[in-house]
Amino acid sequence: MYCQRKPTLNALTSTVATSAEAAQAFPIPDNVFAETVTEVRHYTDRLFRFRTTRPASFRFRSGEFVMIGLPNADRPVFRAYSVASPAWDDELEFFSIKVPGGPLTEYLQKIKVGDTILMRKKPTGTLVIDALLPGKRLYLLSTGTGVAPFASLIRDPEVYEKFDEVILVQTCREVAELAYAHELYDEVANHEFLGELAAGKLRLYDSATREPHPRQGRVTDLIDSGKLFSDLGVPPFDPSTDRAMICGSMAMIKDTKDRLEHFGLVEGANNAPNTFVVERAFVG
Ligand code: A2P
Repeated sequence: MYCQRKPTLNALTSTVATSAEAAQAFPIPDNVFAETVTEVRHYTDRLFRFRTTRPASFRFRSGEFVMIGLPNADRPVFRAYSVASPAWDDELEFFSIKVPGGPLTEYLQKIKVGDTILMRKKPTGTLVIDALLPGKRLYLLSTGTGVAPFASLIRDPEVYEKFDEVILVQTCREVAELAYAHELYDEVANHEFLGELAAGKLRLYDSATREPHPRQGRVTDLIDSGKLFSDLGVPPFDPSTDRAMICGSMAMIKDTKDRLEHFGLVEGANNAPNTFVVERAFVG
């Protein structure tokens, strides 16, 4: 799924439909794309991914997010979702949490192939290569659905042109939640063109916090203990060579950002590139 900054909280009207008939009942609002769901895959009872058609005119930079909604109300609820697919893909992919009672995900988790989703037209976000100064090693640090923007970036050839090493880090509560990142890694490694570009560059470092796993613990603890670096066989964060992107919960971002700053990295933005950037994972 996605990373979000501030959600656009359109009030949910009293009339909310729950199923495909809703698409007939409510008009498509102006200024949104109405796209068709082409694939849905559920990983756990908390996480799923879906793919949709892509509007011919829709352009975005790998790592950006868009606002997604459903045609199930007079004023649909929109939430920010990182586009998980790369900029060259014919379709769009999203990775989503299922929040019980969540104003959007309660309904979104029930979508099926052929259903319609709404997408606002303008992508945005800070997890883009242009917001980082040139470097050698890129860390993509994520928890849960925070991996979504990185799913886009690790499938973008540009990332391998710009960096010698790309380390995708994902921590989840449960082992089954790590499956999406493993699939992504395998997809890149076996891809006709990307496989060659990524060979010897892309590395996946995963950990689980609430189930037994060969790598146990939060990313912050793995940084503090030095285990992240010793497992990877690399020196600790170095602002002269290392760049990072962070995507997770607010608490995860704050705690991970503290660690990067401790090692001398500095937060950047689109208009002021520096050595790391952050974006909050969507949680509603
Ligand atoms: P934990 O199981 O110890 O809470 P969530 O689904 O709540 O967003 O959590 C996803 C993963 O992020 C979990 O493994 C969780 O660990 C971890 N996590 C939660 N808060 C932080 C934090 N402040 N710093 C680093 N990791 C965190």
